[in-house]
Amino acid sequence: MCGIVGYTGKSSAAEFLLNGLEKLEYRGYDSAGIAVLHDKSFEISKTIERIETLFAQTSNGNNIKGSLGIGHTRWATHGAPSLENSHPHLSNDRKFAVVHNGIIENYSVLKQELIDDGFQFTSETDTEVIPMLLQKYYKGDIKAAVTATLKKLEGSFALGIICADSPETLIAAKRFSPLILGIGENCNLVASDVTALVSHTKNVIYLEDGETAFLTPASVEIYDSEGAMANKRISVIDWDISSAQKSGYDHFMMKEIMEQPDCVKKTLESYNKNGEITLGNIKLTEQKLKKINKIEIVACGSAYHAGAVGKYVLEELLRIPVNVELASEFRYRNPIIDSNTLTVVISQSGETADSLAALKEAKKMGSHILAVVNVVGSSIAKAADDVLYTRAGPEIAVATTKGYSTQLIVLYLLGIWAANILGTANKEQLKALNDELPLIPQKISKILSQKSLIQDIAQDFANAKSIFFIGRNIDYAVSLEASLKLKEISYIHSEAYAAGELKHGTISLIEDGTPVVALCGCKRLHDKTLSNIKEVGARGARVLACVADRDFNFKDDKIKTLNFPATNPLLIASLEVIPFQLLAYYVALQNGCDIDKPRNLAKSVTVE
Ligand code: M6R
Repeated sequence: MCGIVGYTGKSSAAEFLLNGLEKLEYRGYDSAGIAVLHDKSFEISKTIERIETLFAQTSNGNNIKGSLGIGHTRWATHGAPSLENSHPHLSNDRKFAVVHNGIIENYSVLKQELIDDGFQFTSETDTEVIPMLLQKYYKGDIKAAVTATLKKLEGSFALGIICADSPETLIAAKRFSPLILGIGENCNLVASDVTALVSHTKNVIYLEDGETAFLTPASVEIYDSEGAMANKRISVIDWDISSAQKSGYDHFMMKEIMEQPDCVKKTLESYNKNGEITLGNIKLTEQKLKKINKIEIVACGSAYHAGAVGKYVLEELLRIPVNVELASEFRYRNPIIDSNTLTVVISQSGETADSLAALKEAKKMGSHILAVVNVVGSSIAKAADDVLYTRAGPEIAVATTKGYSTQLIVLYLLGIWAANILGTANKEQLKALNDELPLIPQKISKILSQKSLIQDIAQDFANAKSIFFIGRNIDYAVSLEASLKLKEISYIHSEAYAAGELKHGTISLIEDGTPVVALCGCKRLHDKTLSNIKEVGARGARVLACVADRDFNFKDDKIKTLNFPATNPLLIASLEVIPFQLLAYYVALQNGCDIDKPRNLAKSVTVE
């Protein structure tokens, strides 16, 4: 979704802004622009194409002089993608330039008031009211104008503001949309996402809701919502610059797929000290845990699919009912929740609007909130009672891979940790899981080392109109993810079905040659899934079955098989998903799709 960058320093602002916007491209956008202050006026460059067009338009930034500026990638909400609607937006007197993430809910009322005051609007955006309000309230004191303007705004925002009268001041304001300050040498920066900052600095300050920052190259002043000076801690990001670069891969997605053994290992190791699982100083004490009688898992997209696996694992280990639900449904359902409910919110970005809203809803009802999050300091991490971080590092490709894989690991660890305390699983079962977990990274590596096999299989799928994924139990949960991965990047229609449910309707869609992928990792349900394979086979389906080594012999030449290494039945998702990430990648590659930035999608969905 939208992205913000801002620079105040001694060097070229345009250079930082363009490079920063390039780092934010992965979030998804349909237009972009920068404004740099030079000789008391703004130089603007905008595009409705890719950031590379901005580079070209400005000769890599060299044509735009000045060392104070703001930039933006826009994902259209109010008004189509167009140059007029793209940010930065200017006040009528061209003294203020503004970039904005979020939605100003009362913009139409404000716009009418401003029109009545004589202001002229050139865009359809909600954002444009902000520079006009700044102009209206500006009487020579920028701070006063910003304060008066922010008071008028309802909704969510992260703002970057510059004023032609103040050649060194970069202003940042946050309410409900993420915004981070980068503390550099001879420069200070603003970005909506740390990936835009890591190449310049690792020292950051996370703004809180209601805070406003005034930055110059040498100073940082932050005020809280009451106008009092806020004392903020500088955090050091542990992501390095290489994590935001492709490092020789053609796409971030492939790089991130290949990083999974390492990320899974790091995640395991951060919660496993000398063979013992420890979740750190979490507030979910033994006493509290013992009172939990229900677990709600809420999330969106792939994080929801990780939760779907978590349901099977946690119910098996804890014997506590687990409900997994899409955050967008949960938040408007009036769920039955109290202080004995544990709500687990899963989110790679930690900024997904629906997941955050669901979290707040559950919290209001007294539930203990445990978040499984990748991005340190993100909104969901901050709003939760406890956070278990995944150690995936920055995930740039829109299609999540390592984010999902590390979420699974945290859910397993949570299950084993809680089962140990509650005594709900037998010691041998827990030991078997503990012994197997450290082997998962090398087993993932083994699958990855045979990726060319999957590249070959992808050829059979590239021309398909529709593909079905079927499975039972954890296989079904993985089918959901396999299907999403394929459709989001290859644009081929696909559906995931519980294998036993097919004959209740969907089987009517199976015709001669329809590809059906049967996930058969759950050994105890092999015979059941095999019956479903036979049902679709009898109707002409081309079946590809995914099975664990040594487990399954189809004795049927028509069924192609894809093997993954055998593992503990509760951990199969971690291995079974890998071939399907690769399959989606290679099908999309073959079909010439934009793998890292699939059409219409954004990496982090910060609107509901
Ligand atoms: O950042 P989150 O984990 O909260 O994001 C949730 C979904 O938007 C995300 O998983 C999405 O479905 C991905 N594009 C899937 O690859």
